[in-house]
Amino acid sequence: MEKFSSALEMVKAMKPDIPVFAARPHAAGRAARWFAQNFPGEVAYAYKANSSVFLLGALYGAGITQFDVASVVELEDAATIPGVRLHFMHPVKSRHAIRKAYFDYDIKCFALDSEDELQKIVEETGGAKDLELFVRIAVPAKNSRIPLERKFGVVGQKAQRLLVKTRQVADELGITFHVGSQTTTPDAYAMAFEEVKKLIVKAGVVVDAIDVGGGFPSRYTDSVPARLSEFMEVIKASMAKMPVTDQCRLICEPGRALVAEAESLIVKVDLRKGDELYINDGGYGALFDSAQLGFVFPVRLIREGLDPNEPLVPFEFWGPTCDSIDHMKGPFLLPASVREGDYIEIGNIGAYGRAISTRFNGYGAYHDVILQDEPMYSIYTEEDLPIASKA
Ligand SMILES: Cc1ncc(COP(=O)(O)O)c(C=O)c1O
Repeated sequence: MEKFSSALEMVKAMKPDIPVFAARPHAAGRAARWFAQNFPGEVAYAYKANSSVFLLGALYGAGITQFDVASVVELEDAATIPGVRLHFMHPVKSRHAIRKAYFDYDIKCFALDSEDELQKIVEETGGAKDLELFVRIAVPAKNSRIPLERKFGVVGQKAQRLLVKTRQVADELGITFHVGSQTTTPDAYAMAFEEVKKLIVKAGVVVDAIDVGGGFPSRYTDSVPARLSEFMEVIKASMAKMPVTDQCRLICEPGRALVAEAESLIVKVDLRKGDELYINDGGYGALFDSAQLGFVFPVRLIREGLDPNEPLVPFEFWGPTCDSIDHMKGPFLLPASVREGDYIEIGNIGAYGRAISTRFNGYGAYHDVILQDEPMYSIYTEEDLPIASKA
């Protein structure tokens, strides 16, 4: 793997004609160390966010040995990492996936949000007595960019009944939730814990583990979240009020917050039409979140001899496919002189960018490099700064 001191050095050496994933493993390692030191429980990485070996290696090197997997393919990949503990947290799994996970990969930990799924798990594990079963409850999405409560999660009396039934077959009973991805304020977790508390009391069950899921934010041009340390304080205070014993495990499964800032995308401008730039990756590639959800990623022009005082003006991006939804509205602020043949670094695409990209229209091939400089935004280096200087 080629390493460069910056995107400019990479562009000068490679003059790439296809987009480049530029990983910064040191940033993933820093994020993992921060979580290990500051989250008041166990940290599992949500494998789906980015399974680049460079980032997985950095996370593992920083002490992450638990992984949340969502499919057989993910668990087969993640199981190759030495000494891992895997959590199969997708609430709806095929019978084949449950059997394979339990019997071939020794996975005991499963999520569920219905009695039918509970039944499947019991049947396909042969009535196993060593299961760690997490009931996924739906919690309100508060200041979340990607709410997740509509697809999964059980509430009210159904949740109480499911907790009681699950308790009867589980060796360890857990409750899990997801406040929605890119949740920018910690009150979402406080509200979720309130739901958990009510449910435990009403169901009258002993709960052995609470898994707060992912949802921890990263920084984007159009999204400046509260400090991560504030999230930790809210979670610590909420956990202290739960009707559980001191032995109750607390787990989190961050994806985005561990890897978003650890990867950039370097694209080439194929054409300029006024304030519209046609670039060589887009909404069917690593910029899905920008095309479909309006994320404004940080950008900078990578050109030797660039005048640092050149004024920045707003641009829109079009991706390389023939589809008209392959459009990223931005606004992306770049020097007014940007032209065909220029390269642009699009930062903080490490969460879900690589993972979602497709080969539509024959695009979707990338070079991979490692960069040794700092990400365009880092919530970890800014953690100690007063909030006002972060804008
Ligand atoms: C069960 C589960 N856990 C964790 C995550 C990671 O979420 P995030 O990337 O918002 O931290 C997801 C994302 O969809 C998920 O479905």
